[in-house]
Amino acid sequence: METGLDVERIRKDFPVLSRELPGGRPLIYLDSGNSAQKPTQVVEVMREHMAMHYSNVGRAMHVLGAESTEAYENARDKIAAFIGAPDRDEVVFTKNASEALNLVAYAFGNPIGTDPRFRLGPGDEIVISEMEHHSNIVPWQMLAQRTGATLRWFSVTDEGRLDLSNLGELVTERTKIVSIVHQSNVLGTVNPVAPVLARVREVGALMMLDASQSVPHQRVDVAALGVDFLAFTGHKVVGPSGVGVLWARGELLEAMPPFMGGGEMIEAVWMDHSTYAPAPHKFEAGTPPIVEAIGLGAAVDYLSEIGMDAVVRHERELTAYALGALGEIPGLRVIGPTDLADRGGTVSFTLEGIHPHDVGQILDDNFGVAVRVGHHCARPLHLRFGIPATTRASFYLYNTPAEIDALVRGLHHVRKVFA
Ligand code: ALA
Repeated sequence: METGLDVERIRKDFPVLSRELPGGRPLIYLDSGNSAQKPTQVVEVMREHMAMHYSNVGRAMHVLGAESTEAYENARDKIAAFIGAPDRDEVVFTKNASEALNLVAYAFGNPIGTDPRFRLGPGDEIVISEMEHHSNIVPWQMLAQRTGATLRWFSVTDEGRLDLSNLGELVTERTKIVSIVHQSNVLGTVNPVAPVLARVREVGALMMLDASQSVPHQRVDVAALGVDFLAFTGHKVVGPSGVGVLWARGELLEAMPPFMGGGEMIEAVWMDHSTYAPAPHKFEAGTPPIVEAIGLGAAVDYLSEIGMDAVVRHERELTAYALGALGEIPGLRVIGPTDLADRGGTVSFTLEGIHPHDVGQILDDNFGVAVRVGHHCARPLHLRFGIPATTRASFYLYNTPAEIDALVRGLHHVRKVFA
């Protein structure tokens, strides 16, 4: 299989991929949808910063303070460029994608906010979809509970696509916000943003994308997408955990009330009231994830150097190969699209009569194959398909067809064990 990516060279950047597991088995890591491995380039930038430059940012009047602040703010520039943000100040560092989604949900119906676009109460509606990760469900449920607004959702077709047949009835003048996943962490489906956004604009609502699985795996350009808010997390983009990103249109960030109060998010504080710093600092209360943000900057440098188009091509080839090979295993059912149209490199499946936990355990114990099993924080989606759990293989730039062969061998073995 020729994908145009020098995978053997790339694999050398990820030391963990050449480690042996207990018993001498090689590691076959097919769980990047859960969390990606880290290249030496990222680890080294973080180590160097911690060892030689570290200090708090934005509030230290000394050499280290200046160096740390510069590196932290440079990371913001890199991330803005990576996602096509028109303005670096539109990039807010959060703890993860969940925090970015919660931050936006918290801006709605918040009594300290004044902008009518964020006013929310009984009669108003929030629209999500049935294929969301819990992090794009629970914050909106909590918002609906807090404000009396109604939560509605798109259904999912049998093929694992967003059902847009009732778009006009679902997104109406009552809708204040539509928040959907860009690329499903279970189905691999890449959702069509344009028709949803067109309807959102027609009714004067706002739109958010959970891009946790798209930013690591495809070229994401927020300006081209045209949405209002986008969230992703660092640890799936070959960066560290502990840092995520909220991107939002600048004028919306200015209009939104702050999320958390504390140091560095203020302009001035009196005993009875405070004024707030401009975005993005208004949303970065307290000491931020300094080294993590710098690591994320190194991660997007790494991916940019390889080129996201090459990453996409490689994952596409791997996915085609995997769908073909898995399709030949008796009793295996892929949950999600079985063709390559608008889908990424995440393949979830069931094996007839065998619980995914058993599948995962045997793959790990006997073959060193790391997959994720369970409902992948998308329980409603699994309920939609009438199943409690799936086994999920997810691919990234460092995976090879030989690793998919190992997965397939492992699955044949699992079937034999349970025959
Ligand atoms: N970490 C979650 C997953 O595995 C989001 O899909």
